[in-house]
Amino acid sequence: MGNTPFIIIAIDGGAAAGKSSTSNGLSKRFNLMHVDTGSFYRAVTLKLLDTQVPAIEGSQLEIGLESLKLGTAIEDKKASISINDWIPDQSIRSERVNKNVSQYAALPTLRKFLLDYQREQAIVAKKYDFDGLVMEGRDIGSIIFPDAHLKLFLFADPEKRAARRAKEGIVDSIEKRDAQDSQRKSAPLTRPDGSILIDSSEMTLEEVIQHASTLVEKTIKTID
Ligand code: C5P
Repeated sequence: MGNTPFIIIAIDGGAAAGKSSTSNGLSKRFNLMHVDTGSFYRAVTLKLLDTQVPAIEGSQLEIGLESLKLGTAIEDKKASISINDWIPDQSIRSERVNKNVSQYAALPTLRKFLLDYQREQAIVAKKYDFDGLVMEGRDIGSIIFPDAHLKLFLFADPEKRAARRAKEGIVDSIEKRDAQDSQRKSAPLTRPDGSILIDSSEMTLEEVIQHASTLVEKTIKTID
C-alpha cells in the first residue's frame, strides 16, 4: 500500500442520515481511519453534564473544558476520543446526551476546543499507516477540512431516519437536533461547497456504500 495517496473524505449530513454506516463501509474498503466527530461532541457533552457545567458561554465552561485532556485510541479502523483516559461507551448515545448535545455543540468555545484536535486526526491516521481518513460530522467539509479530496453530503427523509433510530432501539430527537444544528451561528449544519449530495432515502446501505466507493475510486485517481 506504500504508493497509495493519502485521501481525506468529509461526510456531513443530519442526524441518522447514514453517515456512520457509510464511513465504516468506506474505511474497511479503502483502509481509512474512521473518525466520528459526533462522538467527540457527545463525549464532551457527557463530561460537562456529569460535572454540572451548563451549556452557556463563560468561565465555568472554560474551566470545565480545561480539565479535559484529550487523546485518541484506535480500535480496528476507528479512532475514538479519550478524555482523561476514559474511552466513551454507549452512554454517549443515551437519551440524556441526545437531548443536550446540540446545545453544547452550539457553543463557540466548545467548538474551538475541538477544532485542532479534529484536524490532528489526519496526523494520527498517517502515523498509524492508514491510506486516508474518513471523517463524519456536520462541519467537516465546510470548516474542519474545506480542502478535503472528496466531500459527501448525506440526506435521507425524516421518516426513514426515524425508522433507522427506532430499529436501533435509540430514543432520539432527530428533527429537533437538526433544526438546532442548522440554525446555530457557529459552524452550522450545511451542505458544504463542492460536496456531492447522496439521497439515501430509497437506497440500501450497500447501494450507498457502493456509490460512495465509486466516487472514492475516481477521486483517488486525481490525487498526485
Ligand atoms: O453525529 P451525531 O448525531 O452523533 O452528532 C451528535 C451531535 O453533535 C449533533 O447533533 C451536533 O449537535 C453535534 N455535532 C456537531 N458537529 C459535528 C458533529 C456533531 O455540532 N461535526
